[in-house]
Parts: sequence; C-alpha cells; structure tokens
Amino acid sequence: SGAKRPRLTFLGTGYLGATYAICFAEMGYRVIGFDVDVDKIARLANGTLPFHEPGLENLLRRNLAAGRLQFSTNLAQIAEFGDVHFICVGTPQRADGMGADLSYVEAAVTGLSQNLTRKALIVGKSTVPVGTVEWVEQLVSKNAPADLGIEVAWSPEFLQEGFAVDDVLRPNRIVIGVKTEWAKDMLHATHKGVLDLAAAEGRTVPLMVTDFATAELVKVAANAFLATKISFINAMAEVCEVAGGDVVQLAQAIGYDPRIGNRFLQAGVGFGGGCLPKDIRAFQARAQELGVGDALRFLHEVDLINLRCRPRVMRLAAELLGRSGPAGPDLSGTRIAVLGATFKPNSDDVRDAPALAVAALLAKSGSDVRVYDPQGMENARVVQPKLTYAPTLNDAVRSADLVCVLTEWAEFRESDPYVLGTLVASRRVVDGRNCLDSARWMKAGWQYRGMGRS
Ligand code: UGA
Repeated sequence: SGAKRPRLTFLGTGYLGATYAICFAEMGYRVIGFDVDVDKIARLANGTLPFHEPGLENLLRRNLAAGRLQFSTNLAQIAEFGDVHFICVGTPQRADGMGADLSYVEAAVTGLSQNLTRKALIVGKSTVPVGTVEWVEQLVSKNAPADLGIEVAWSPEFLQEGFAVDDVLRPNRIVIGVKTEWAKDMLHATHKGVLDLAAAEGRTVPLMVTDFATAELVKVAANAFLATKISFINAMAEVCEVAGGDVVQLAQAIGYDPRIGNRFLQAGVGFGGGCLPKDIRAFQARAQELGVGDALRFLHEVDLINLRCRPRVMRLAAELLGRSGPAGPDLSGTRIAVLGATFKPNSDDVRDAPALAVAALLAKSGSDVRVYDPQGMENARVVQPKLTYAPTLNDAVRSADLVCVLTEWAEFRESDPYVLGTLVASRRVVDGRNCLDSARWMKAGWQYRGMGRS
C-alpha cells in the first residue's frame, strides 16, 4: 500500500508544515504533523490554528474529525507511521551574518533518522542554500540504521500567505529533486491527490523532475526574481518622484506587455515578511561561498532599494507636515496615525514588516505615533513593544496631523475619507502602498501623497 497512498508526516508545524499537513489530509492522505513545541501541537490537535490563514482552520477541524489528521510531539510515533517525511522547519537568517541558519533542519533530520525503523523517504521543503541535500544525506547515513535504505529528496514550495490553501491544493507547478526511481515514484504517489484534483477540474499541473541542485535553486531563484521585480518598480518610483512622473501609470503601461506582466509591480513601501528579505540575503551568501558572488551582486542593490523605501515614506510624511529640515525631519509635536503593521494584508505576520519599521522611524523622529492593524496587533506588540497601538481605525486617526497607510488592508482602502476627515486634526495622507482612490481622498479635502507619484 505504501507507494499507492503513502502515509505522510510533516516535521515543523509552522506556517508551511501546518498548511501542508492540513491540505494533504484534505486530499485524503493520512497525515501526522510533528513539532517540538508542545503548546503548538496541543492547539492544533484542538482545532486551533496558531496563525491567521483564510479557510485553513475549517479544513483543520474537518480533517481532525475525520481522523485523517493527527498532531504529535513523538518522533518514534511519526517514524513508525510515515512512508514520506517532509522537513518543513524554519531556516532563518543567521544571527551572525546573511546566510541561512540550518540548525532546525539538522535537529529535525537527526532526530527523525535516529528513530526510523523502516524504509522511508525524507523530503526537504524548507528553503535552503544549494548543496544542503547532500549534507542532509550525510546526516541520515550517520544517524539512521544503514540497512533501512532511507532516501532523501527535495521538493520546494511556493505558497503565499493569504492564498496558502489554494497554493497547496492547486499549485502552478510541482518540482521534485530526486536521485532514484523509487524516490520519484514515491513523490508521484504523494502528489497524486494534487494531480487528480487538477484533472477533475480540467487543469494540468506540470510536475518537473530535476536533480537536487536545481530543485534547491528553483525556490531561491523564484523569490529572487519576485524581489527584483518589486525593487525594480520601487526604483522607478524614486525616479518618478524627482522627474515628476507617476509610477502607477508607468507600471500599468509596461505591464500590458505580457513579457513583463502587471503582477508584482506595485510600488510602495517595499517587500517584507519571513521569506523574500532573508532569502535574497542567504542566496548572496551562498553564491559568495561558491565563488560566484559577482553573479548575484545585483541582489544587494535589490535589498538596498527595498530598504530605501522606508526613509522615503518618512521624507514624504515630513514634507507634508512641513517638517523636512536640512538636518533631517523633526516630527516632534506631531501626531501620526500608522495604518497597517503586517507585511501584507490578509495575514497576521509582522516579520520584517515595512509598516512597523516605518512606524518606528516616525516615532524615533519625535512623532506621537498610533498604530492600528486589523489582524497584526498581537504580533506587532511583541516585535515593537514601545510603539503605541490604537484599538480601532477611528481611534488611530483621531486628532492625527497625518495618516500613513502602510499595509493595503481592505478596511483602509474602503474607509470613507469624509468620515475620517471629521476625526483628524488635519487632512493629510501618505499612501505608502498606492492603494487609496487618490481622487476621492483629494475631493474630500485631503492633501494626498503616494509613492512615486508627483
Ligand atoms: C513569497 C512568495 O511570493 C511565495 O511564492 C513564496 O513561496 C514565499 O515567499 C516563501 O518563500 O515561502 P509571501 O512572503 O507570502 O510569499 O508574500 P508575497 O505575496 O510574495 O509578498 C512579499 C512582500 O512583497 C510583501 O511585503 C508585499 O507587500 C510586497 N509586495 C508584493 C510589494 O511591495 N509589491 C508587489 O507588487 C507585490
């Protein structure tokens, strides 16, 4: 039965592992999610998601009730259960540099290997530097009983927060890096649910079989490309600001060319989150180790353009407040409402969030800042405990001299500029995501500034 309906385990029930575990159970597989975090496992087993993701909690509850989905902190149990073990632990940026910290991968693979009692496939999903698979193979051969013939493969994921359920059930491609026919067949059987669903809906999902290095590189190359696209348009925004152009129209116009495409061309306060920023840094670090640092030097520029967006928002704010002195902005005595804390809407994730970074900059320049976010307040308080948080949108903007929109939540896009105009001390708005209907806001008496729009 193993190759027909493999039993799956997911090590690491963070954003990636929990989403995969739940979605594969939904496709009919028997699944165990494993984590060393006892609290997290207890919450998941009780049907509570430890993060915000549209649609996922319903699937969690349904599959727990159906008995297909379990959660465990017991390595021996998952080792006995699984035909395929997915490594989904985090690979954060190292505290001492730009490279990836692989200590969680090492712990997961070592712990699992020591507990294995039968043949199985270990599949890496975490984003890692190219070359990691060979190192994982060595860890396995050092720690698993040799006669079991444990094999290793790599299969990157491309899911986006806010769209994660659909991205797992209906991916635009599956990439599997393998060395043997057995591993390939096993991963084929593992993805049969995805392929069947596509067939039932009249779609096809390309399944690419590659070598290890290509599978590892596909992931970081995709994220590097997306980051580059965003920084490209933010660089154009910088030019528009001094040349008197409008980057929103510019993006629209170049995006009509299908070779360029209009997605991921939204200029604003830049990219954040737990993936793009750390991935482009780790990729550069790895390229340098491999002696091809020159090939990825442009990613350093991509990073700098991105980080420059943050002080650019502050300069716009200072200009609008008439506070941009030669020695830098002095915002003392002003009150600013910061709308948004998460790195993007429909998420509660504040990791490397541009919105929070800008809020901190404004506060540091002396402004009395009030932050409001529909989902991210709890996490924001942990990351930026010194900032002041307002319980509602109205509380944040009340008596403000300036409103800064830094995450494009629907609640902000759809808010009524006339109503907000009655609450503020002064109608000035910086649209850090170019997400507001500028004509409507100006009609309601607001002084409006967008990013890259003169
Ligand atoms: C990103 C990739 O899009 C996924 O394909 C990948 O699987 C994931 O990283 C990962 O490596 O796990 P995610 O971090 O969820 O997904 O967020 P994105 O939707 O890519 O947004 C990243 C950042 O770019 C956000 O801060 C967003 O506001 C910003 N962004 C995006 C822009 O500033 N402009 C745009 O046009 C698009």
